[in-house]
Amino acid sequence: MHHIPLLDLKLLYDRQAGEIRAAMDRVLESQEFIMGPEVAAFERDMEAFLGGEARALGCSSGSAALVLVLMALGIGPGDEVIVPPYSFFATASCVALVGATIVWADVEPGSLNIDPAQVAAKITPRTRAIVAVHLFGRMADMDGLAAAVAASGQEITLIEDAAQSLGAAYKGRRSCTIGEAGCTSFFPSKNLGCFGDGGLVTARDEALAKRVDILRKHGAEQKYFHDVVGLNSRLDALQAAILRVKLPALQGWCDERRANAARYRDLFAQTRLDARVTLPADDGPDGAYHHIYNQFNLLVDDRDGLQAHLKAQGIGTAVYYPRPLHLQPCFASTGAQPGECPVSEAAALRALAIPVYPGLEPAQQEAVVEAIASYYA
Ligand SMILES: Cc1ncc(COP(=O)(O)O)c(C=O)c1O
Repeated sequence: MHHIPLLDLKLLYDRQAGEIRAAMDRVLESQEFIMGPEVAAFERDMEAFLGGEARALGCSSGSAALVLVLMALGIGPGDEVIVPPYSFFATASCVALVGATIVWADVEPGSLNIDPAQVAAKITPRTRAIVAVHLFGRMADMDGLAAAVAASGQEITLIEDAAQSLGAAYKGRRSCTIGEAGCTSFFPSKNLGCFGDGGLVTARDEALAKRVDILRKHGAEQKYFHDVVGLNSRLDALQAAILRVKLPALQGWCDERRANAARYRDLFAQTRLDARVTLPADDGPDGAYHHIYNQFNLLVDDRDGLQAHLKAQGIGTAVYYPRPLHLQPCFASTGAQPGECPVSEAAALRALAIPVYPGLEPAQQEAVVEAIASYYA
């Protein structure tokens, strides 16, 4: 029996426990828990990480970040927002929450990211924005999406859902620095996770950043004076202090994930599983996509059987995502039918994420691949 979890957060915590506890103590001693110097300092650290290409604003979660951006763009009833159906729920629910219309564009078979050709076909005069999810840590085809927008001749905002991709890059540009706005999550399982919920909005435009700043504080630029209706959606000072310790380690963790992914590719190449196991897209031609593998997601035959087999051997896996968003009952009003987004629907049946976390040992990776090979033998 192995003990190989999908993710081992304790291992990373142990590497930094002293520093993290000291940072938390600093906040406890200050008793300043809402906004304040820790949040401001973390936002400056994030802006430096993004090469000064965007403003950074902490908020309460990645889901809240998406809602804040749509609100700040003034998107609402009568507007259409194009999203991929193969993603986490919040990618689409944010559109419903602001009263706008969800328009589904299927994903590409290889990368499982939103397909620019599908997007181009879905643009109408009412399209206001596109949410480009960088699924599993590999960025979407940002040039393809920009070309689709340009061809429409309309003003359409490209929003990056970077919840899984902080540290990834496309043609040398980091995620959150290409679209007009970016949204990321510090949910514990993300590559940069905090100790609860947390998120970040990035904005390339100062005026947009200003609107998000006001909206995350109940729409009040000055406390108790409200010109617009906003949310209570701030990043906690404790989370900001923790994130300040973790951020300098992020690139190293991403490198470890990339090395683990490369080792999996070598190990799978030695098996004869090609017909049954499809490996995730890699960095692509010329390394255009710097993939940071928030997940190493396989597409496999008989997924549920394989998952049970691995679980019985003590190997953790997860299914992202078992039901594509366009077929969720809560979005029935979009009128989407089974068969409408076939790539997403096939991925939902075949996807299985295997452990790729920093600190995973080569011998553990060998055990994972052996266990998969033994299932199909
Ligand atoms: C693609 C994507 N978008 C948005 C979110 C929402 O982030 P949060 O869980 O911080 O609200 C997540 C997190 O799971 C995600 O994976």
